[in-house]
Amino acid sequence: MRIVVLMGGRSSEREVSLKTGSAVATALRELGHEVFELDLTPDLPCKLLELKPDKVFIALHGPYGEDGRVQGLLDIMGIPYTGSGVLGSAIAMDKEITKRLLSSEGIPTPPWTCVKRGGSVPNWSLFPAVVKPADQGSSVGLSVVYTQDELEKAVKELFELTDKVLVESFVEGRDMTVGILKDKALPVIEIRPKKGIYDYESKYTKGATEYVFLEDEALSEELQDMALRVHNLLQLRDFSRVDFRVDREGKPYVLEVNTVPGMTELSLFPMACKRAGIDFKEMLVIILS
Ligand code: DAL
Ligand code: MG
Repeated sequence: MRIVVLMGGRSSEREVSLKTGSAVATALRELGHEVFELDLTPDLPCKLLELKPDKVFIALHGPYGEDGRVQGLLDIMGIPYTGSGVLGSAIAMDKEITKRLLSSEGIPTPPWTCVKRGGSVPNWSLFPAVVKPADQGSSVGLSVVYTQDELEKAVKELFELTDKVLVESFVEGRDMTVGILKDKALPVIEIRPKKGIYDYESKYTKGATEYVFLEDEALSEELQDMALRVHNLLQLRDFSRVDFRVDREGKPYVLEVNTVPGMTELSLFPMACKRAGIDFKEMLVIILS
């Protein structure tokens, strides 16, 4: 197959996407495909018209690549691509809209509020609180605050990065994640950062985080069922990864959904596939099928 791997892009997760894209491109070449690596530049449509790929593998994270925009372009050009379509991608990239949908279906998600550019920060009582851009990934710009003053300062600072800030109560407990590959939930990974919280540094620094496969079968099943419900609710395709906090009583809360989960050397999605007996190349074959 002639496959274009789209990577890089113009979001704050550009560096992560370059790593995802290069891992994917290398493996696809080893599988015998003809692979072209392209960035998200304004002349992308011309390059695609020239290359005439059979399929585009979207290895872009964050706005423009993971939020339905590039998916819409490819739909118009009639080029098949991996992963979710316009609607699911757009919903999942916006944590506020995702949380509204989850709540309407009775799927637990931590209490939240949203502050749009120009809006004022409401009085918040559920501290500690997590403050993050509503529309970006990889924990870029994420902080934990303990007072109203800290909250107001963090929100103001985030307007450098985004037009919409999400404030969410911090669930004391554990981080867990569940990948979905073609409508099947993968083994649950518990994420244990060695210091502090699971932020950008803990995500992408080798050795900074310990990853453990959850052994509690009942909790695993609950998380897998919930992840699958979320994947279907958002009408996602091919693959996704649903991130959770599980409180001290064992109650799961959905934080967000990633429609193009990272596939770097340290990323969770390929790790979960491997545990399920699916190596990196096989995972790509399944995603492309
Ligand atoms: N947003 C990053 C790439 C992830 O979820 O893996
Ligand atoms: Mg994310």
